[in-house]
Amino acid sequence: MIGVLVSGEGTNLQALVDAGLPIAAVASNRDDAPALARVSIPTRAFELGDYDDRAARDEAMAEWLRAQGVDLVVLAGYMHLLTPAFLERFPAAIVNVHPSLLPSFPGAHAVEEQIAAGVTESGATVHLVDEGIDSGPILAQERVPVLEGDTPATLHARIKRVEHELLPKVVRDLCAR
Ligand code: GAR
Repeated sequence: MIGVLVSGEGTNLQALVDAGLPIAAVASNRDDAPALARVSIPTRAFELGDYDDRAARDEAMAEWLRAQGVDLVVLAGYMHLLTPAFLERFPAAIVNVHPSLLPSFPGAHAVEEQIAAGVTESGATVHLVDEGIDSGPILAQERVPVLEGDTPATLHARIKRVEHELLPKVVRDLCAR
């Protein structure tokens, strides 16, 4: 069963739901994440301020996901770095989607940075998660053109349309392993 971690809007979560994938639970680092309102499956927020430190928060989040039957974790716009406390509980079973052709432009502001750098090509990447920021073995990548006059918003919308196809496809393949 899949557990999805979200921090924002949740359009990738929606794509996973629409693809009919077996999602057991959705967790967030923010209790006001709009993504949480999209689904009628169990959701729970794990705010850092409610725990002693990040490791304690991640341990609680991992335990809750495990209790929901989760054995594959998908980061769909989850914007906190996961600590070893979490990673150790799901070895080689956490994937992330990111709006660039990794390893170029990791981090939380990838789309803005690509526009500022004047790149002509961007993309979407799905990769296995390790302790780094948007690092870990790449599972799938698709190119997206940057068009004349693009803003971060227009480029991000184009990338997301690709993410919404790529992420469910990779997750479906992982579920079939
Ligand atoms: C997506 O574009 C995803 O690639 C990005 O956040 C967005 C979430 O959108 N993730 C990262 O930047 C991870 N470093 P969503 O909430 O609408 O799915």
